[in-house]
Amino acid sequence: MEIVIRSTPDEVASTVADIVERSVRAGPTTLGLATGSSPLGSYRELIRRHHDDGLDFSSARVFLLDEYVGLPKSHEQSYFSVIRSEFVDRVDLDPDRLHGLDGRAHDLAAEAARYDAAIAAAGGIDVQLLGIGSDGHIGFNEPGSSLTSRTRIKTLTEQTRLDNASFFGSVDDVPHHVLTQGLGTIGEARHLVLVAVGAGKADAIAAAVEGPLTAFCPASVLQLHRHATVVVDEAAAGRLALADYYRYALRHKPTWQQF
Ligand code: F6R
Repeated sequence: MEIVIRSTPDEVASTVADIVERSVRAGPTTLGLATGSSPLGSYRELIRRHHDDGLDFSSARVFLLDEYVGLPKSHEQSYFSVIRSEFVDRVDLDPDRLHGLDGRAHDLAAEAARYDAAIAAAGGIDVQLLGIGSDGHIGFNEPGSSLTSRTRIKTLTEQTRLDNASFFGSVDDVPHHVLTQGLGTIGEARHLVLVAVGAGKADAIAAAVEGPLTAFCPASVLQLHRHATVVVDEAAAGRLALADYYRYALRHKPTWQQF
């Protein structure tokens, strides 16, 4: 696991965009994209690179991390709609190459199994972007999630519903249930990139990176992954005991070694 501490949220976005750009330029790639506020700066930077530098997403494919149960795809807060408006519709990515979970499926267990099979059939995910909840969730794997879980239905904690209330206007409108890629599903992606900015994420980042491997902090599962990059700003790094070492390692990173 590599911890990359950047001075500002803009630098965080630029580093994450560098990782995605490298994968996109290497050939047809499959991206796993998160929603929420954390990756928005990275999406804006990728859109800028599409317009200014000709970064071409036409051969990329996208799988979403999660979806609210009960919202139709057309709902403005469905993650399918959000990722279209925040990213897909603003680059040259054919919406047919965007894959999401159907939160209104009659049989949610079958929908979850279909999704894992679709990811596998696409050859797996090359780069999976992740945010982190204040309780350490990734995707919507709330504390207590099995570290080997597959895509399935989960119940959001009240804290997560409160954290997401601003997107809906009222907490009463935030669904209680979601479909989310499981921690085992996420762990099969070839490169995990977790992004966090702001002091509100500092405790969760410290627990994920330096705490024990435990279902109590689902993001700690990154500790088991062969290629995980955690990109944070100084505020989100504020509780890391080894922050000086991570900065030192970055300063001395061999020039040939990529993130
Ligand atoms: C969203 C997702 C969640 C968010 C997390 C952080 O697709 O999977 O895990 O990444 O709740 O949300 P923000 O970035 O809004 O703080």
